[in-house]
Amino acid sequence: MANRHDFKTEAEALQAQLVAWRRDFHMHPELGFEEHRSAGIVAEQLRVLGYQVQTGIASTGVLGLLKGARPGPVLAARFDMDALPITEENEVEYASREPGLMHACGHDAHMAIGLGLATLMAQQRDEIAGTLMLIFQPGEEGMNGAEVMVKEGVLADPRPDVFLAAHVWSDSPVGTINVSSGPVMAAAERWACTVTGKGGHGALPHQTIDPIVAAAQIIGVLQTIVSRNVSPQETAVVTVGAIQGGDAFNVIPAQVTMSGTIRTYNPNVREMVIRRVREVVEKTAAACGAQANLNIEQLTPAVINDAEIAQIVHSAAETLVGADHVFSGERTMGSEDAAYFMEQVPGCYFFLGAGPPGQEAPAPHHNPRFDIDEAVLSIGVAILAQTLAYYLLRQ
Ligand code: NI
Repeated sequence: MANRHDFKTEAEALQAQLVAWRRDFHMHPELGFEEHRSAGIVAEQLRVLGYQVQTGIASTGVLGLLKGARPGPVLAARFDMDALPITEENEVEYASREPGLMHACGHDAHMAIGLGLATLMAQQRDEIAGTLMLIFQPGEEGMNGAEVMVKEGVLADPRPDVFLAAHVWSDSPVGTINVSSGPVMAAAERWACTVTGKGGHGALPHQTIDPIVAAAQIIGVLQTIVSRNVSPQETAVVTVGAIQGGDAFNVIPAQVTMSGTIRTYNPNVREMVIRRVREVVEKTAAACGAQANLNIEQLTPAVINDAEIAQIVHSAAETLVGADHVFSGERTMGSEDAAYFMEQVPGCYFFLGAGPPGQEAPAPHHNPRFDIDEAVLSIGVAILAQTLAYYLLRQ
């Protein structure tokens, strides 16, 4: 591995520019598939740096290609661009200028890190053996922009050999990096059902089929899927997030509607839990004399890191921030559509500690007071460059 580079110093030299980019994106947040301004800035910067640029993938997605002087592997790194429908409550000079919109997940930082990485790698072009693909993705927040980009062929030509993505993480202090092999983000489904019975007088239940009682049974039996069907060594969640039924104290309604989510890591467990949710909802309703109509929508697969690539990221992280600042085991049952890239290409998705110093409980992601310590920007650039160097700057 080429260790002539001191990526920490090289990335730190970009810090003022990284902060300027991040704050500009932060002030001008855009929702998924509407990132026209952000994508425009990204595409322009990549062109200036000499990247081959393709725009308009999945509406606002941007692909930047940097072909090295010699042949070699194709490395992809992904940066998401969308903001959230949240009104910012931070009183900072770089607060959102768009009422009702906010970069409350740190994707502004991701774009800045992506441009910083683009800058740093363009400087090494003559030494690069292989190709760097920078993917700026629209619509990560529940919109599956990654799936659309994959469908539109972003991974087709060239086909990446390795995929990398990092997320700033306000839960962990800045200067720490968390890299794990195996699952780090869950597969997610959205389910919704209507339980239909027969309405009637609240005092004459024998003349009705009570969908409220049926729904209550269903909710109870759903709890046994994780506790009785899933192995204690596996991980799963079945949540009922909404229930509606009835308007009056003395009326048994005809219908109850419910919806919720399923989260799993292991694809076999995923399949089993989906099957069991269907059985429980339909058969419990039937046992109550009611009828259930269930729809389960599969949203994203799990993000599962390749062990070997995770090891390479891990040692790159140790080089940069020291072994005592590198951790493993950060996993969430949240979902992330990078999974669509990682179904196709082995990769590693890892977390960059971004918690502002001195704050014991920083505002969580998707909170109106979410913010990051901007020191994470140059760390993000450096860790990605250090990892890419392992593959692209070998002598
Ligand atoms: Ni995010």
